[in-house]
Amino acid sequence: MRSFTHLAFVAGAAAQIVTDPYAVRPGSVVDHPLPSISKRNTYAPCADVAELWAAQVTALSKPNATATPIRVPANKAYDCLLTVPVDAEGDLQEIYELKAYLQYQSTLSWLKAGVKDQIKPIDIMGTLDKIGDGIKKNLYSNDYEVQLAIRTLLDSPGDFHLTYRPDITSIFQFIRPEGYVVSISSDGIALPKLYLFTDLPKTATGNITGSAIAKINGQNATEVILAYSQNATYHDVDTKYNKFSPNPALQALETDDGGISYYVYAGPTTTYTHENGSQTVIDNLAVIPAVYDFSNVTDGPSFFTAFCSGPDAVLDPEPSASASASATPKASSTAKPSAVVSATPTPSPSLFGYPKPQFIHSSKKVSGYYLNGTYSDTAVLVLPGMDPASLKLTVSDPTGAIGGFNESQALLRKFLADSVQAGKKKLVIDLRGNGGGTIDWGFEVFKQLFPSVVPYGGSRYRAHPAFQYYSAMVADVAVDGIDKDGEIGQEWDDADYGIQSEILWSNIYNKDLQPFKSFQDYYGPSTINGDTFTSIRRYNFSNNLGGHTLPASLTGYNQFRNTTTQPFESDNIIIIQDGFCGSTCAIFAELMREQGKVQTVAIGGRPQNGPMQGVGGSKGSQRLGFDQFYQWAQRTIKISEELDGTAVSNKIAQTAVGIIYNATQIYVRTTLPETGSSVLGYVNSLNNERMNDSTSTPLEFIYEAADCRLFYTSASYINPVNLWQQVWDAKWGKGKCVPGSTGDKSAIGVQQNKTSFGNTQDSNGQPTQSTGAGSTMGVSSVVMTLAAVVAIALTL
Ligand SMILES: *[C@@H]1O[C@H](CO)[C@@H](O)[C@H](O)[C@H]1NC(C)=O
Ligand SMILES: *[C@@H]1O[C@H](CO)[C@@H](O)[C@H](O)[C@H]1NC(C)=O
Ligand SMILES: *[C@@H]1O[C@H](CO)[C@@H](O)[C@H](O)[C@H]1NC(C)=O
Ligand SMILES: *[C@@H]1O[C@H](CO)[C@@H](O)[C@H](O)[C@H]1NC(C)=O
Ligand SMILES: *[C@@H]1O[C@H](CO)[C@@H](O)[C@H](O)[C@H]1NC(C)=O
Ligand SMILES: *[C@@H]1O[C@H](CO)[C@@H](O)[C@H](O)[C@H]1NC(C)=O
Ligand SMILES: *[C@@H]1O[C@H](CO)[C@@H](O)[C@H](O)[C@H]1NC(C)=O
Ligand SMILES: *[C@@H]1O[C@H](CO)[C@@H](O)[C@H](O)[C@H]1NC(C)=O
Ligand SMILES: *[C@@H]1O[C@H](CO)[C@@H](O)[C@H](O)[C@H]1NC(C)=O
Ligand SMILES: *[C@@H]1O[C@H](CO)[C@@H](O)[C@H](O)[C@H]1NC(C)=O
Ligand SMILES: *[C@@H]1O[C@H](CO)[C@@H](O)[C@H](O)[C@H]1NC(C)=O
Ligand SMILES: *[C@@H]1O[C@H](CO)[C@@H](O)[C@H](O)[C@H]1NC(C)=O
Repeated sequence: MRSFTHLAFVAGAAAQIVTDPYAVRPGSVVDHPLPSISKRNTYAPCADVAELWAAQVTALSKPNATATPIRVPANKAYDCLLTVPVDAEGDLQEIYELKAYLQYQSTLSWLKAGVKDQIKPIDIMGTLDKIGDGIKKNLYSNDYEVQLAIRTLLDSPGDFHLTYRPDITSIFQFIRPEGYVVSISSDGIALPKLYLFTDLPKTATGNITGSAIAKINGQNATEVILAYSQNATYHDVDTKYNKFSPNPALQALETDDGGISYYVYAGPTTTYTHENGSQTVIDNLAVIPAVYDFSNVTDGPSFFTAFCSGPDAVLDPEPSASASASATPKASSTAKPSAVVSATPTPSPSLFGYPKPQFIHSSKKVSGYYLNGTYSDTAVLVLPGMDPASLKLTVSDPTGAIGGFNESQALLRKFLADSVQAGKKKLVIDLRGNGGGTIDWGFEVFKQLFPSVVPYGGSRYRAHPAFQYYSAMVADVAVDGIDKDGEIGQEWDDADYGIQSEILWSNIYNKDLQPFKSFQDYYGPSTINGDTFTSIRRYNFSNNLGGHTLPASLTGYNQFRNTTTQPFESDNIIIIQDGFCGSTCAIFAELMREQGKVQTVAIGGRPQNGPMQGVGGSKGSQRLGFDQFYQWAQRTIKISEELDGTAVSNKIAQTAVGIIYNATQIYVRTTLPETGSSVLGYVNSLNNERMNDSTSTPLEFIYEAADCRLFYTSASYINPVNLWQQVWDAKWGKGKCVPGSTGDKSAIGVQQNKTSFGNTQDSNGQPTQSTGAGSTMGVSSVVMTLAAVVAIALTL
């Protein structure tokens, strides 16, 4: 029997973007000529790719070889993919299983309806059925086409928590080396133009010497980028546009993947036509991550065998009696060091190209700076991610999330106190690139800035049978206990049953910060926007054993409850966003905006005047992985057997819980070698709601303009200090914002009756118009325990 530990749960309950483990960083590909290949009588693209691969593997093994990823011409890689035969039976099974797992996605009904000017209607379940119909009718000519349809479908909502990466879409990464472009304005206000990244000056004081890009492949460059970035996993179109360029904050962190949707083929070459009339032609390449071995690939079918059959390495090594033995997930082995593993600490971490910090955590996800000269009353807090993991990994803290939280908490506390001590009056918070992380860290940073404000953070799960059974099982275990010496119990401790997690209703609060009266009071379900949800739930930050996500104390609670000094006034804080903010970053941004009344400057976006949103990433407040749902299904079936008997357990196994538990094909088709995760599938599991929103619209679907917008100049793109000063000037000095970018009725400053950005005059600002549909709240009355739940569900 495989054993899961609760640690996997702690690691799972994050709110964070799923980064591609094999992403190619800009500049990492050395553009030297490709080896030549044999002449063949017939066109055999997979054989050509395999030959090019083998030649480079040999070359790279030579002494003094220049390290560079293995690459092949983009069109050959694409043509190879087109020869991979459709696995009709497997793909239909995959879709069947996928639909069961996707029940956990909390925004299905809002996506189905769409959002005017933001998200066109996307019927996830209906479209999966259509893809299935297409397979049955032989409408797909190769397996890449099928899997691409599934992947783009799940990317198209622009919710980066919703992730499903079929194997065949990850083997080639289509890139343009030397073809990265940046969008630069002459003064930060004038409409920006596109330039080759390589045309940027070497230093921030230099000027761009190159000529702007007017056309890409003969068409309007802006429109080409917008079309190409259509399915970048951000819900905001300006953010999608930004995603086309290397992100300076993530470049500094050395984690930038430098592009968008590189699983989509975009032709053999890219032609940039410059304003001066000259053309730059880039050969598009497909990079092959080092984990893929083409030794046995000769054609489409052998490609399928090599990469689309679920590598043995990821299968459970221990035999199991279950029907899903051939391809059940292993517990996340990455998250399980054998003992204390202590990596050598980086001597002095720093963000590449940033000034010397006042402090920086070893993860580089939190650091602080003081500005100079005219700006010397200002401190800067830089948060390019919300996951400041510790380098010290222990068995009880295998990802370093808890230790990193503690370390960063202390560092930030000292920085804020030192800043006040040093007479700093203003604070710039740079959230560029921030794809989220540890949920509690978002609340903690807010609490350090506003210690006397009680954070809201109300959220809901989607209510559906598999989740209901699991939640009810956890509730039952909490009451009944379980035989620790039993067959199941011996490998799991209390935490494994979920009773020390925020899944147990009695660990958390209702929307008024009161205990729920009963499981039923917590679970509901409430009917909202034509779908069903649990009641609004909030964390109990005083309860470190499951009242919130980490077993650590936040500022304002437990041993830190006496902290009351607010270091900076709301009006003396400004947030910088580039749209990448999502997940835990979005949780933090919402607290800062709605409860901190702090304004935001957005950077970049399409070359047009007008407002821009600051938060373009997922605004859901939790991401859970498919592995988690497998584990929940397993426990629901096994533990219900102990608690309620075989009859109940067998009935549960016939529901969606059984589909999730029996799943095989999604594990076969999404396994990336060496990643530690057995299935690259995630959902947005919690809708985050605004306080007092009677429509219960997930924040994801509410338009929120920033208070001001600026464009990058080459100086502020290259050196963050210039950007911080540019923003400072706009907020507190004589600087301006992009025309039309201030005064949107959804901006927090306007809602606070501050007409123009940075000023505090009266205005006729109006409250935001929520874009959500009206809600009807109904609480079903019968749900109590798991056995009752099952009895009711099965008799309906
Ligand atoms: C490899 O590099 C070393 C050190 O730079 C040099 O001494 C040696 O000659 C190089 N070998 C080859 C085969 O170029
Ligand atoms: C975006 O996704 C949609 C829906 O799956 C698909 O039709 C379209 O081709 C995709 N666009 C790009 C550029 O990948
Ligand atoms: C950049 O351009 C500005 C304005 O045209 C000029 O004043 C400045 O000297 C230039 N800087 C360099 C390093 O060429
Ligand atoms: C036109 O601009 C491109 C891109 O900056 C540059 O490489 C090229 O040398 C320029 N051509 C002329 C004739 O100035
Ligand atoms: C290119 O497209 C953008 C967006 O549609 C538009 O604003 C711009 O005017 C177009 N440029 C030209 C030269 O047509
Ligand atoms: C290639 O096939 C041979 C013979 O079946 C096998 O031993 C080897 O492990 C395969 N290599 C890979 C990378 O799959
Ligand atoms: C402030 O000036 C000091 C001394 O010149 C320098 O080391 C530091 O990097 C500057 N800080 C910023 C944020 O520019
Ligand atoms: C919140 O947590 C504290 C500390 O564990 C506990 O005393 C309190 O009863 C909790 N409230 C609820 C509703 O669980
Ligand atoms: C983190 O701090 C909490 C107190 O807030 C403490 O209970 C816990 O042991 C610490 N954990 C680590 C890994 O540092
Ligand atoms: C918090 O303040 C109260 C009242 O001043 C004091 O009695 C208590 O010891 C303090 N608690 C902590 C943890 O510092
Ligand atoms: C899952 O597998 C078990 C054991 O083979 C079977 O009894 C159950 O009906 C299956 N559930 C579903 C929903 O297919
Ligand atoms: C802003 O002004 C409106 C209209 O005068 C008023 O109803 C509202 O309460 C004011 N809001 C704030 C935050 O002052």
